Amino acid sequence: MSNDKSQADQTDAARPSWATHELVALALTVVLAVWVVAQWGAAVQPQRNTERDEKRAATMAELRVADEEALNSFGVVDESLKRYRIPIQNAMTLVAELGAENISKEVAARTAPPSDLKLVEIPDPDFLADISELDDPSLIEQGKTLFQTKICFTCHQTDPAVPAPAGLALKAPNFIGDFWGKERLVHKGMGGPLERVLMGPGYFAESVSATGSGARVLKGALTPMPPPPPVTEEEVKALMAYVRSLSAE
Ligand code: HEC
Repeated sequence: MSNDKSQADQTDAARPSWATHELVALALTVVLAVWVVAQWGAAVQPQRNTERDEKRAATMAELRVADEEALNSFGVVDESLKRYRIPIQNAMTLVAELGAENISKEVAARTAPPSDLKLVEIPDPDFLADISELDDPSLIEQGKTLFQTKICFTCHQTDPAVPAPAGLALKAPNFIGDFWGKERLVHKGMGGPLERVLMGPGYFAESVSATGSGARVLKGALTPMPPPPPVTEEEVKALMAYVRSLSAE
């Protein structure tokens, strides 16, 4: 009897216990779970850089540009239904100024291809008696300081090595290279008809001091220039002298 018992004990000890069974089962479950998650994870992982994704990204970029264009330009949506599109920023002002019934004429005038764009002359500002005043080194120096204190530098890049991050977002023009006296294509008012102007004292002074719905806006910029901190005529002159001095002849 005692012999039997010890035999039974021995066999029991040799057999794996229930705890071991449970551990093995648990381990298998964990392995299975990990495998399932890994398989499923691989299935839902986006496949990067496939041709399809690239096409999709390109289409998205195009759509975004089209959206931007649609929000900021004049166009005919449906002539028969008399549906027109006008720039969203000044839509309210335009409708108020022109009257709803005149919008179609305005759109027609503004969407016409610029066939004979004449050069619009902007007279020099009164505070500039003679262009040679802008050669004055101390005025240029004063303008250089103002360009910093009046935060122009945050939007207008003047050094190829120093970016102007705020300007990048708005597509603000830079003052690098040979730009003074050169031609600019501008909208008369955001999204308005195009004009050719020269980058000179008149256009410069106007760009800095005249804002509002009628102001000239460089083609390609995403917004009209936000009004800078107030500047006096003397300061505009100094800024003009400095910016002009940056232009490579
Ligand atoms: C917040 C950004 C911002 C700041 C600050 C800023 N500008 Fe501008 N500026 C713009 C943008 C955007 C345009 C283009 C749209 C337009 O013509 O109105 C522009 C256009 C101009 C133009 C026309 C340039 C061209 O090539 O056609 C001049 C000149 C100018 N800015 C001068 C200045 C001066 C001087 C200051 C500082 C007193 C200044 N800006 C501050 C964003 C800025």
